[in-house]
Amino acid sequence: MTATARRFDSFEQAFALSFEEEISGETYFATLAEAELDPRNAAIFAKLARVEAETVAALRPLATALGLAPVNEVAIQRKGRDSAHNRKGQPFSDFMAHIVRDYPAYVDEFAQLHELCPPEAKTLAQLLTDHEIAMIDMAHIFLAGVGDPHAPLDAYLAQVRRSADA
Ligand SMILES: [Fe+2]
Repeated sequence: MTATARRFDSFEQAFALSFEEEISGETYFATLAEAELDPRNAAIFAKLARVEAETVAALRPLATALGLAPVNEVAIQRKGRDSAHNRKGQPFSDFMAHIVRDYPAYVDEFAQLHELCPPEAKTLAQLLTDHEIAMIDMAHIFLAGVGDPHAPLDAYLAQVRRSADA
């Protein structure tokens, strides 16, 4: 079944959940990278872990300032590893199809976050949207077999670094 977007009541609720899920996302993809036998696919998982890590780094100052960072970050990291173990053995192309099918729900959620967020957080909300779109674009490129699936991820990593310098 295709994933559907959750509904949020406040910016704080949406932001806290997003921040947590980027933290668990990093360990999720890192665990998948370790388990993946094909080095080309492992490199994609490893880059997804970096995309999540850099997004966490970008969001962290605001999460800390607002008191929205998780109390037990180690437990959140463990959650990511546990979810990855549930996907063990899934063919890589099935995982890419899962991204194309289910990750647009997160784009909808980040659009809600963008609506709810105060003006000073709009850039961060945009980063969340853009990192998700980069992942979906990557999966489309992989499944089409034409082009470099790393390209949208690398473009996002360059973007998040520019926003850190700004
Ligand atoms: Fe993410």
